[in-house]
Amino acid sequence: MARVAVKELVKRFGKVVAVDRVSFEARDGEFLVLLGPSGCGKTTTLRLIAGLETPDEGEIYIGGRLVNDLPPKDRDVAMVFQNYALYPHMKVYDNIAFPLRVRKLPREEIDKRVREVARLLRIEDLLDRYPRQLSGGQQQRVALGRALVRQPQVFLMDEPLSNLDAKLRVYMRAELKRLQRELGITTIYVTHDQAEAMTMADRIAVMNEGKIMQLADPAELYYRPANTFVAGFIGAPAMNFIDASVRQRDGSVMLDTGVFTVELPEHVGKILLESGAPSEVIFGIRPEHIDISKQELPGGYQVEVFVTEPLGAETIIDFKHGDTLVKAKYPGHFEATPGEKLWIRFKLEYAHIFDKRTGKAIV
Ligand SMILES: Nc1ncnc2c1ncn2[C@@H]1O[C@H](COP(=O)(O)OP(=O)(O)OP(=O)(O)O)[C@@H](O)[C@H]1O
Ligand SMILES: [Mg+2]
Repeated sequence: MARVAVKELVKRFGKVVAVDRVSFEARDGEFLVLLGPSGCGKTTTLRLIAGLETPDEGEIYIGGRLVNDLPPKDRDVAMVFQNYALYPHMKVYDNIAFPLRVRKLPREEIDKRVREVARLLRIEDLLDRYPRQLSGGQQQRVALGRALVRQPQVFLMDEPLSNLDAKLRVYMRAELKRLQRELGITTIYVTHDQAEAMTMADRIAVMNEGKIMQLADPAELYYRPANTFVAGFIGAPAMNFIDASVRQRDGSVMLDTGVFTVELPEHVGKILLESGAPSEVIFGIRPEHIDISKQELPGGYQVEVFVTEPLGAETIIDFKHGDTLVKAKYPGHFEATPGEKLWIRFKLEYAHIFDKRTGKAIV
């Protein structure tokens, strides 16, 4: 087990800066997720840590030791790739045993470890089969087994569940998390799926364009996103963003969206004014923090239904605010037809205000 730290890491491919001054530390035994959209530099960061790419700048530490000049095989990390490849001509047993045979471990030791890992992954019954005789999820577990059997100090996993169907993926998330807890091996896990990140991670580093936008635990990212990028990336459906101007009247502070006027609680207005008082802001509110009703809601606004998306356990109701669609989530079935007038009300204690110029969170 070991800490992993990267400092001011930079990797360029020609003109593309794939990793742009990235610094973070995965604590001993931590499950750290790198989350971000396609092309933001997740895989490159992982490959740098594994030693499969050489950084242009910066330092990589594993267990407190600078490993920049250490070849991959001496870093004691095991990487599970997005497109795991099992050896098709080898049985499951031999696939898992392979890394140990390469290291010339004694036969009995190999057997002991393979069976232990198979038990952990619940694939004991499959050891005699060939990969083609396995389902996708079973193959995935064999690939994990091959990484686990080495008992590395660090796991690096690059979207290891992306090839599985939705149901199996949810099952494997829980399995993997349990396994990681049980083994206590420091794990850096890459995904672009925010739900996967939120359910598995101890902490999440949200990346965009080669940079870390925020590193925090899941609740912090959800309740206190540092900027509009993180706010929009975490949560589904995404947070609504509405442009607004700051106005003061009779000692109170309001946000004027051109359609609504949102009167801010006193302490929020104060923070906003003390923050340098930008005149243009972005009002952010998550769909689950908007009340919806057919009856008038005191302190609410009347809106016209654009479309409804019934999802069974909840209903997403879209309405138009100028040219933008605003989504509200109702916790249950909600019958409404396009064009119908409804009342909405923002739960202001969950609202966010961002500086329009910088995208940074103010409140
Ligand atoms: N070997 C390479 N040569 C040139 N450019 C590369 C190379 N590898 C990655 N890049 C570029 O670096 C950037 C980051 O790529 P990377 O694979 O790290 O993204 P990612 O976050 O893993 O994306 P995805 O979610 O699609 O896997 C991209 O713009 C990509 O095109
Ligand atoms: Mg990738």
